[in-house]
Amino acid sequence: MHSVLVVALAIIYISPVSGQSPTYGVGREPSPQEIRVWDIAIGPDGKELPEGGSTAAIGRNVYAAKCAACHGKGGKEGPYDVLVGGFQSLTSARPVKTVGSYWPYATTLWDYINRAMPFQAPGSLSSQEVYGITAYILYLNGIVQESETISAQTLARVRMPNRDGFVADPRPDTNGLGKAGRAKPAKR
Ligand code: HEC
Repeated sequence: MHSVLVVALAIIYISPVSGQSPTYGVGREPSPQEIRVWDIAIGPDGKELPEGGSTAAIGRNVYAAKCAACHGKGGKEGPYDVLVGGFQSLTSARPVKTVGSYWPYATTLWDYINRAMPFQAPGSLSSQEVYGITAYILYLNGIVQESETISAQTLARVRMPNRDGFVADPRPDTNGLGKAGRAKPAKR
């Protein structure tokens, strides 16, 4: 009886199911399908962006239908977060941090809308719709033209006004972020 138990424990010890916590033997490796659902982060260089593209002219209608009620027709009127304007305000006593004035990477806008908006139905937009709305918000901020195609190829090349307003994270374990971001602190 005793030796059976020892053998059983030895098997558990030497062949943990891959992905299990070694201490408690719980959990499992996520399935490829589960990873696909979670793996939606888009980095500054946009290499994870799905194929597709759209323009502000097309995104305008989707924005009006799905976003304007909370962010205002022009992205400035609220009632929730202001998405447009605030330029030159960041160094003032009352900074207005918007997508246009504050966000360093245009790809973050695609990622955020795709994962979190509309607020009451996150994940409900098609990637084409996200391209169109992203283009429209950039257009409202005067960053891209109305007819400019914003796509997997072009979005990362959009230069955000506050791109150089951040300092690189100096912690050693963030090594590499400074490459996609800035290597040196902004001069004031
Ligand atoms: C029901 C209201 C509602 C709707 C509809 C809505 N939003 Fe939002 N949105 C919010 C709220 C609330 C926040 C702030 C969320 C937070 O800080 O966690 C927000 C935040 C944002 C932000 C981040 C702003 C910032 O500077 O941090 C963006 C960008 C955004 N929304 C875009 C959109 C887009 C695009 C749509 C349409 C597809 C949309 N929202 C629809 C309520 C809404």
